Amino acid sequence: HMKGAIFDLDGVIVDTAKYHFLAWRELAKELGFEFTEEHNERLKGVSRMESLRILLEIGGVQATEAEQQRMAQEKNDRYVQYIAQLDASELLPGVRPYLTGLRERGVGIALGSASKNAEFILERLQIASLFDAVIDGNKVSKAKPDPEVFLKGCEALGLDPSHCIVFEDAAAGVQAGKAAGCGVVGIGRPEILGEADLVVSGLIDLVK
Ligand code: BG6
Ligand code: MG
Repeated sequence: HMKGAIFDLDGVIVDTAKYHFLAWRELAKELGFEFTEEHNERLKGVSRMESLRILLEIGGVQATEAEQQRMAQEKNDRYVQYIAQLDASELLPGVRPYLTGLRERGVGIALGSASKNAEFILERLQIASLFDAVIDGNKVSKAKPDPEVFLKGCEALGLDPSHCIVFEDAAAGVQAGKAAGCGVVGIGRPEILGEADLVVSGLIDLVK
């Protein structure tokens, strides 16, 4: 019986991967190499600094810690320009009806995201008020597949993990949810999210 629901943001609520991609690609171009959509797949669910590390590895670029900080800042400045244009029309199908339905049933709702831009994105999408708690990249020190983000989500909702369901589109996120002791619904392809208790193609599939 589900008392709490914890949602990943990127890929579950909104497709921000395309904006991360554009911003990373511009950085790669500046550094003199091409960054493809296929490369971008490797960054889904991965923290900002780890994403940069992977990108630099792809380009064969060496950078000092200070240079990496500057690059990550530059990428984020570009990314924020893209997401500043977001509005409710970019909510993925089913998000608003599904969350609204949960609220009506008294289910607690939390966000569990690696992004440091999560609050800003929820505001832009006009769904911030649907969340009882927001655990984002500013509040966790260990990245998924570590369960920290979801354990903090359960704690913020005042619920035991066994009564919470995590909704995730990334394999590392599914692992994190399982490691926290939550039920996990995978959003996407069963080949990638096999560890989940249930896999659906989107929240729209869960709206009755
Ligand atoms: C995750 C995304 O949700 O957040 C990753 O899937 C992203 O692609 C990570 O790198 C960190 O996001 P941000 O907004 O803090 O750079
Ligand atoms: Mg995700």
